[in-house]
Amino acid sequence: MNKKLEQLEKFKTNDKNPVYSTTNTGVSLSDDANSLKAGPRGPTLLEDFVLREKITHFDHERIPERIVHARGTGAHGYFLSYKDHSKLTKADFLSKQDKKTPVFIRISTVQGPRGSADTVRDVHGFAVKFYTDEGNYDLVGNNMPVFFIQDASSFPDFVHAVKMEPQNEMPTGGSAHDTFYDFCGLKPESAHSVLWVMSDRGIPISLRHQQGFGVHSYRFINQEGKSTFVKLHWKPLSGTCSLLWDEAQKIAGKDCDYHRRRFWEDIESGDFPQWELGAQLLDEDLQKKFDFDILDPTKLIPEELTPVIPLGRMVIDRNPDNFFAETEQVAFCVSHVVPGIDFSNDPLLQGRIFSYLDTQLSRLGGPNFNEIPINRPVCPFANNQRDGIHRMTINKGGASYFPNSIDKGYPLLKEPSANKGGFRPYPENISGTKSYDRSETFEDHFSQATMFWNSMSQHEKNHIIAAYTFEISKCSRPEVRTRYVNNILVNIDSVLAEKVAKNLGVKIEPTSTKPIKKIMVKPSPALSQPNLLSGDIVSRRISVIIEKGVDYDDVINFKDDMEKRGAMVMLVSSTLAQVECSGGEMLSPKGTIIGNPSIFFDAVYVPKSTEEATKILSDDGNFLHYILEAFKHLKTIAFGGSVSVIKELLRLPQDHGLLLGNGYKDITEQFFYSLAHHRVWERESKVSKIPA
Ligand code: HEM
Repeated sequence: MNKKLEQLEKFKTNDKNPVYSTTNTGVSLSDDANSLKAGPRGPTLLEDFVLREKITHFDHERIPERIVHARGTGAHGYFLSYKDHSKLTKADFLSKQDKKTPVFIRISTVQGPRGSADTVRDVHGFAVKFYTDEGNYDLVGNNMPVFFIQDASSFPDFVHAVKMEPQNEMPTGGSAHDTFYDFCGLKPESAHSVLWVMSDRGIPISLRHQQGFGVHSYRFINQEGKSTFVKLHWKPLSGTCSLLWDEAQKIAGKDCDYHRRRFWEDIESGDFPQWELGAQLLDEDLQKKFDFDILDPTKLIPEELTPVIPLGRMVIDRNPDNFFAETEQVAFCVSHVVPGIDFSNDPLLQGRIFSYLDTQLSRLGGPNFNEIPINRPVCPFANNQRDGIHRMTINKGGASYFPNSIDKGYPLLKEPSANKGGFRPYPENISGTKSYDRSETFEDHFSQATMFWNSMSQHEKNHIIAAYTFEISKCSRPEVRTRYVNNILVNIDSVLAEKVAKNLGVKIEPTSTKPIKKIMVKPSPALSQPNLLSGDIVSRRISVIIEKGVDYDDVINFKDDMEKRGAMVMLVSSTLAQVECSGGEMLSPKGTIIGNPSIFFDAVYVPKSTEEATKILSDDGNFLHYILEAFKHLKTIAFGGSVSVIKELLRLPQDHGLLLGNGYKDITEQFFYSLAHHRVWERESKVSKIPA
């Protein structure tokens, strides 16, 4: 148990001690289901303090949801530093090998309300709170390395545009509507980020299969006081990969909690999600080495130019005990930094330093939100702040001001020092004329969007074209559609623009402005997801379809083999009743074909069976749809023995992800290989005729 979990233990109750129900002031109850009335049929009496206390508490159970990132999932874990990084930063949690720091992570979507579906197309928030020995450090990032706007002043406009439209609160959790494309069509700095969202990055397969990015340039300050600019990255050990759009939409309807559930189940089963924290480092005087400004949050530094240096590893190993108390009340603030970590002058970051503390005041109801158990630091904390709503600490002593003599000057100030000193901002030299001007170095809005497009594989490009087509087609105003294509897409890539324009029936209009000069559009292979797979099948989900007459050994051997390789295998049947195998053994399905459709899995195995089982399956429309849908979603499918006739029945064209054999031994290696490649991309051009 780490320091944070130990601390939380003190606040936990299992409601079995005391044994008897009481009011909030400890008075035991003799009735908790009937109000106090004047006679059994009489009116309720105002005197009923038990009823009033219960209803009053209920009436106030909700707090405002986050204005953005309302839908999210949280869990506990720890961070392990790979080594002593003190040459880079004096941050204590990176100061020695295997230094272990408790963390709480919250991964979220951005635009949807709390009850929206997990698999909508969106940016995903990736926020980590490190409970370090020197105070809390919050790294509040996203699963994409760039942002839509360059200056904090546009954030409210951006959010108003992307969230549900004000007159009818539609659409829920989706950017496919007029106000978003109206804003972005008029705001070219958003081009790069919108492209990321339209790529497969916008629909990750699970929470553990996505990267995290700090986005802004921050500073590391080392023991000598030297500053190095740093961009922080989280790389998932499970690899980075995504759903298909059709899958994502169907999952949103059949299990809107899909991501949350999968994350929860992985943690419960001991298959812990892990990420490596890495840093791109840039000496102060090297910041001009690029053709873009490293203070501009719409730009990334290609990894091929500046490699990501590994710093440590995060393991997420424990679900919360109470969603509201932990995940909902956790308060991330960009302003929570520790000595050794500091800000840059990125104008978006500067606004964020203010915004998070400010928003917690209304969301969590006052200035004492850091005293809520999930937010409390694990190191001692003290200052002269007092009072306010829901103050928990009982401060003793007569003086709550600095300086004081009455309390002998306590709490004292700590000198900044090489390590374990007080926080002191990096002494950056600043001078300038007050103005609203934006730096000329922020003017190039398209080079990196083109670089991202050029970095995509063919199937990723096809998905982007389809995503823009879907999204912009949902805009009801023709001028919004036309402007987005002509103001934005044309400037990213002509093929992209032409294909989307054709699909939307939009005319590409010759622009009167001079062509945009682009720099650095060379592909960056690190941006393309097929290059980011883990090479294994850890945490992949496989369904095994069993019906009466299935071969017991084939099921068990396949299951054992795949589980040894780290996959999660579920036995699925038409009902939850026990299934009698060909040799008389019994198997218990864990899910049904209807309740656990193939969209919830990465691969399907239909084991060796008797003719009887084959007949049952061939006559079952739900099963046939299951296979067709898995095929359409480019999944690995294997048939054992006689069931392979189903392939012919469904007229599925052969490819390397459709496997036939007489039992698991014939297909297991190819199954593993195909699944480790995530999807059977070669099939994609052939599936448009599949009716699923
Ligand atoms: C000026 C620009 C921005 C402003 C003003 C802003 C403001 C906010 C606000 C008010 C919240 C709700 C916080 C809460 O109620 O607890 C929030 C959440 C969040 N923001 Fe931002 N944001 C900005 C840009 C960004 C950027 C660039 C990123 C990514 C690098 C980001 C990542 C997040 C994340 C991950 C959360 C959810 C935190 C959680 O899980 O509780 N935001 N933001």
